[in-house]
Amino acid sequence: MIINKDTIIVDPHPLLRKRAEKVVLPLGDEDRELLEAMFTYVKKSQDDDIAEKENLLPAVGIAAVQVGVDKQMTAVSVNDYDDDGNITATHEFALVNPVITQYSKKEAALAAGEGCLSIREEHEGYVYRPHRITVKAYDLLQDKQIEIKASGYLAIVLQHEIDHLKGILFYDHINTQNRWHEKAKAIII
Ligand code: CO
Repeated sequence: MIINKDTIIVDPHPLLRKRAEKVVLPLGDEDRELLEAMFTYVKKSQDDDIAEKENLLPAVGIAAVQVGVDKQMTAVSVNDYDDDGNITATHEFALVNPVITQYSKKEAALAAGEGCLSIREEHEGYVYRPHRITVKAYDLLQDKQIEIKASGYLAIVLQHEIDHLKGILFYDHINTQNRWHEKAKAIII
């Protein structure tokens, strides 16, 4: 499967609003190949030279519905950086049937708002989400059921991707009456 800027499904599209189907485990060859291609897309998209050459939009995550497959699969690669901009850790997952099992009361939002491979129009505003979550899923990279305890940016990315599996897009969470509404107890990252 070729995944690039032109093959990714763009909003508005009915698939982006569907609840994706659960995937049968162990993974079949077709599902495994698709999830591997999705993960490869995310990794390659973060390399400026490859991204330009292969027409890839930069991404930290992608969901199967975005490439036209109505299944609960998502690939994510998120880096942590130190104050000098050096990568200190990389969080990589290729998840099947992810479920968020715990949410914190405390919320967080990205200072610049969120973006999405499938949304080419700008939707400004804070997207508040729980700051800490626990996710249970099968991870293809580790070939086992895992539990992820995530906070901050990684937690936001995972929630954005898991929303895709439920037909939810990031701008659904924006308060259109007051797009940059400051919540007293929330963290802006
Ligand atoms: Co998205």
